[in-house]
Amino acid sequence: MSASGDPQHGFRDTIGHFATGVTIVTAAGPDGPAGMTTNAVTSLSLDPMLLLVCFEQASRTLPVVRDAGRFAVNVLRAGDEDLAALFATKAVARAKFESVAHGEEHGVPVLDRALAWIACDLRSLQEAGDHVIAIGEVLGTGVDGDDDPLVWFRGRYMTVVRRV
Ligand SMILES: Cc1cc2nc3c(=O)[nH]c(=O)nc-3n(C[C@H](O)[C@H](O)[C@H](O)COP(=O)(O)O)c2cc1C
Repeated sequence: MSASGDPQHGFRDTIGHFATGVTIVTAAGPDGPAGMTTNAVTSLSLDPMLLLVCFEQASRTLPVVRDAGRFAVNVLRAGDEDLAALFATKAVARAKFESVAHGEEHGVPVLDRALAWIACDLRSLQEAGDHVIAIGEVLGTGVDGDDDPLVWFRGRYMTVVRRV
């Protein structure tokens, strides 16, 4: 076990051992779609069906989600790390979507390449430290094929190893 001198660095490094999927959270803005790479996503409740997403206060996608009152979580597939990297930049939303094919489901942008998507109605926004917790009620879901997912682990993109 190792403990870093800087507690925030230590926390970041430690929670980085918790492997997650990688998603792009999207919403429809007045000037077109907006979106950002997000791994702080979890299912919250089955009845009703609720999903939770954590946004940095500084995220420019957050106000678009707030105004639209809807958002989608697009789950990325293995090999789409370039897509994840693009949506993790501070490029303007129009540039992010320029060469990324997408349609619309339940009034929310959904990426053609998404392995799976979940469209939500925004139910609440709750400030928590330097982030905002968004809770959405599920409007619709979709899955496209049987590909492996993109995984984020210890600051790197990887994928899963199938044991069976
Ligand atoms: C793998 C990965 C996961 C991320 N997860 C989150 C997250 O859960 N919440 C968040 O606010 N930012 C997250 N980010 C950072 C945002 O993608 C980044 O700040 C982005 O520039 C925000 O774009 P926007 O300001 O256009 O909304 C993540 C970045 C990466 C590479």
